[in-house]
Amino acid sequence: MIREKGLDFFADGVFYNPHMELSRTLSSLAVDSIDDKLRVLDAFSASGIRGIRYAKECRNIESIDFLDSEHDAIKAIRKNMKLHKIKGKTIEHEAIHYMINSDPGKYNFVELDPFGSPSPYFHSAIRAMRNEKTAYLSATATDTAVLCGSSADACPRYYHSKPMLNDFCHETGLRILIRRAMESAHEFNFGIEPLLCFYYRHQMKIILKLRKGADGANENIKNIGYVFSGDYDGVRVEFSRKPICSLKKYYDYAGPLWIGDLCSRKTADACIKKAEDDEKKILKLIKGEMGYPPFFVTTSSLGKMQKRGIPGMEKLFDRLKENGVKAVKTHFERNGIKYKGKIEDVIRAFDSV
Ligand SMILES: C[S@@+](CC[C@H](N)C(=O)[O-])C[C@H]1O[C@@H](n2cnc3c(N)ncnc32)[C@H](O)[C@@H]1O
Repeated sequence: MIREKGLDFFADGVFYNPHMELSRTLSSLAVDSIDDKLRVLDAFSASGIRGIRYAKECRNIESIDFLDSEHDAIKAIRKNMKLHKIKGKTIEHEAIHYMINSDPGKYNFVELDPFGSPSPYFHSAIRAMRNEKTAYLSATATDTAVLCGSSADACPRYYHSKPMLNDFCHETGLRILIRRAMESAHEFNFGIEPLLCFYYRHQMKIILKLRKGADGANENIKNIGYVFSGDYDGVRVEFSRKPICSLKKYYDYAGPLWIGDLCSRKTADACIKKAEDDEKKILKLIKGEMGYPPFFVTTSSLGKMQKRGIPGMEKLFDRLKENGVKAVKTHFERNGIKYKGKIEDVIRAFDSV
């Protein structure tokens, strides 16, 4: 028996990762903030903990089905459903096969939490919701080595994009994941809106709203681009909507990837309102990043480039403020700085602390 957020769960012989608690909590907060009534498919349930937490913690769950290909998982889900008095179907099946054959109109929210990459499941999950005007896709990726560039060769295969291993590789990876999900959404004439997307402990989480219609999809294209890293990898960075940059020399590039916001203000505000302390901290960072250009610089790269010691973050942020540089911290890296304007202004503030 395990315990998460005050709830007991049977998890004997099935996958359960206690480090994902915060991620499940943030997802649950985001799901609760959705206005529509949700007909959920928890497509990779394991113990069923994610879906059961949605059913217990969110006010908008109209129905929920639990799917897993493993018989032991189905047994655990049934025990947990009974324990928590949750009504719904359990489905012992392979996810793609089930989703491809499910009735359109049955689900308007699909949760994808497989081992590794969710990419092979995007098409069938979105296809299962193809007749909806509005639908929701929630997906977890744990293949961060692929998305962040330490197993770079696999990224074009899974995500049709090139990653880049550097200080901001987790942001690059998350943006590659969003863009890949967008591709599948566009195939069914849905535009996407990121409600809450974040990185936490070697996993990327995306929760997207899908809206039927070409207008949204066409609008999305404006948020697709590339990032180039010039001298001093990770410091002189440029992002561009075209695969070209103005840097005289560049060291590496990543893309195509999503360059728009990673959450919606409404979702972030609703989540923060209901969140407890630890959750609030990360949610406020995620919300603070809204409206800032993608990517960030770290104090360690600045220190290496300027060949000097690294000042404390609080002092540096005070100096940035005194110098009129708009900057925020980022949830991706403790020593990351997101800023508006020129990198030279950040370097000047860094040098003067
Ligand atoms: C990472 S675990 C899910 C974790 C769970 N959602 C949680 O929050 O604890 C992945 C689950 O997907 C199941 N699975 C893997 N491949 C599958 C497939 N193709 N179809 C259906 N289930 C699958 C595994 O049996 C496993 O229980």
